[in-house]
Amino acid sequence: MPKIKFTVITLFQEALEPYLNASMMWKATDKGITEFDFVNLRDFGLGPHKSVDDTPYGGGDGMLLRCEPVFAAIESVKAKDPTAKVIIPTPVGKVWNQETAKGFAEIGGHYIILCPHYEGYDERILSIVDYKISLGNYVLTGGELPALIIIDSIVRLLPGVLGGEQSAVIESFSDGDNLEYPQYTKPADFRGMKVPEILLSGNHGEIDKWREEHSGHAN
Ligand code: ADE
Repeated sequence: MPKIKFTVITLFQEALEPYLNASMMWKATDKGITEFDFVNLRDFGLGPHKSVDDTPYGGGDGMLLRCEPVFAAIESVKAKDPTAKVIIPTPVGKVWNQETAKGFAEIGGHYIILCPHYEGYDERILSIVDYKISLGNYVLTGGELPALIIIDSIVRLLPGVLGGEQSAVIESFSDGDNLEYPQYTKPADFRGMKVPEILLSGNHGEIDKWREEHSGHAN
């Protein structure tokens, strides 16, 4: 069993796959730490056109995701795993942050991420959702990018995914609002821009102090 599994319900699987098949997400899957699965919402569409959306009651612009295909898609996943919890990325959700990502990483389990599209979704869909998550105070065209961000920020915290086990602990936001200190690699002098002397000193007490003093804070 992977530590965490994500089943993404989407109309645009092809938008998600390249990212999940690359770099750290691929590594996490290869090591059996994560599992990604996709459900094509279109497969649960209505009528000959496999329609998944319709116009809003009361009028207004655009189309809304309908209840029937969404409920059927979620129920098809839950039929195989009743423990799976449902996440919907939405600008009216709770704003995502590092603390919440850490919580999901610690608990693990199976999460169904429903990616809305079009102008929005029928409000009744929220009755089968466990977590409404916003990526911030702006509006994207669909749930695919938020799904990738949610997945990435959780998976990289799972033991065995990042190279140095320390990386996820020390880095930005792990300690309250602290942002990471500035870091440098070779060369020590690039076009006259020099790496701070203290970092070349080998004095770890002083280096720690310098890093503490130079840690930023989130605004
Ligand atoms: N869908 C559209 N905009 C979004 C946002 N800001 N956060 C999460 N999901 C969204």
